[in-house]
Parts: sequence; structure tokens; C-alpha cells
Amino acid sequence: MVNWDKRYADAEASGAMFGRAANNYVVQTMARGDFRAKTALCLADGDGRNGRFLASRELAVTAVDLSAVGTDLALRLDTEAGVKVERIAADLADWKPDCERRWDAVFLIYLHCSRAVRRRAVELAARHLTPGGWFIAEGFAMRVYDGPHMGPPDSDLLYSVSDFDAWLGGFEVMEALTGVVRLQEGAKHQGLAQVVRYAALRSGG
Ligand SMILES: C[S@@+](CC[C@H](N)C(=O)[O-])C[C@H]1O[C@@H](n2cnc3c(N)ncnc32)[C@H](O)[C@@H]1O
Repeated sequence: MVNWDKRYADAEASGAMFGRAANNYVVQTMARGDFRAKTALCLADGDGRNGRFLASRELAVTAVDLSAVGTDLALRLDTEAGVKVERIAADLADWKPDCERRWDAVFLIYLHCSRAVRRRAVELAARHLTPGGWFIAEGFAMRVYDGPHMGPPDSDLLYSVSDFDAWLGGFEVMEALTGVVRLQEGAKHQGLAQVVRYAALRSGG
């Protein structure tokens, strides 16, 4: 199992693991004319690049990550960037927000953990979205064809569109893609990768 605290501690000395710029899919989502979220929950926000970007665009952001070291680093970088993000170090295997809390968007970007925990995180996101709220995810895909491949070797950690379809029953799918993108995100995400990108709306908006 990956020791994320150690990874973030080492990365602080050697450079950002996933870069300081926000993930491209997060940036593209923010640029959509129909994306009007004012609040966002970032699940597995790591050292905070995506939550920080959203906060810099005036969203009120809550972020959760397993790594206390990554979360401390994220808070320091938020302060340097002049933004405020509510950051919580917690395991998505058992984290629960207050039952009344709702967000207009939930981002799940490269959460690397077992399918069971990912399923719990997605179902939690679904319950805590406002009506019409956005669920947005990107992660390394189950290998669908021979070719460029990056990300964890263990298939339990990999994403598929059909999992999101099943876990987000009743959501209106806006994008559900599996394909190859060139990642240029820090030291760890460099090169062609097979990824899933998924965006869907909770009903009732
Ligand atoms: C590949 S990093 C991505 C970080 C961030 N989303 C980004 O794109 O820069 C994976 C993140 O998942 C977090 N993570 C792994 N298992 C988790 C769990 N059970 N609960 C919460 N976070 C978890 C790790 O701490 C790490 O920050």
C-alpha cells in the first residue's frame, strides 16, 4: 500500500508530485458555460492544486485527503496563494460530512484507492450534491487496449465508466469518456495515459 504521507514529505523536498497547476479536466470543467457551482468538495485533494484553483475562482471549497502531511502542505500553499480552503485529513473509507451539508460540485481527481473505497466516495458525493449539482472525476482507466499505459498496476485501483454509471444511478451523464490523454502534471503524471473522464448531474436542478 502506498504511504502517501511519506510521498508528500519527500515531494516537499524534491518538487510537486502532480504539479502545482490544476488538473486539465478541472480547468475545462470550470470553463464550461453551464458550470455555475459556487461550492465544491474535492475528494483526495492531495497537496491541494485543484481545491486551490477552484478557491482562486471564488468557489467555497472543502477538501478531504487521507494524508495529514499532504493536507498540511496544501494549507501552507493555500496561504501562499492567498486563498482559503476548508481542509480535512481523513480516510474516505469512513469520512462522513454533516448529513445536511451539500455542495454544488464534487471533484474526484486521481483518487488512488480500492474500488470499494472509491465506490463509497462516489456514493457519498451523490448524497451530498445539491439538486443539479456536478460530479466530476478523472482517473487512470482499466486498460482497454494495448498502448500507452500509466498509473497503478493493480486493477482494483483503476476506473471504468460502467462503475460510475452504476454508482451514480439517476444522474444525467454529461461526459463519459475513456481514452488517451497526454498528462503533464508534475513528476508523477508525465506522458500518455489511458484515463476515464466522467461528468454527471444530480437530478432536480
Ligand atoms: C494521485 S494522488 C492525487 C492527488 C490530487 N487529487 C491531485 O490530483 O493532485 C492520490 C491521492 O489520493 C489520496 N488517497 C488515497 N487513498 C485515500 C483514502 N482512502 N481517503 C482519502 N484520500 C485518499 C492520497 O492521499 C493522494 O493525495
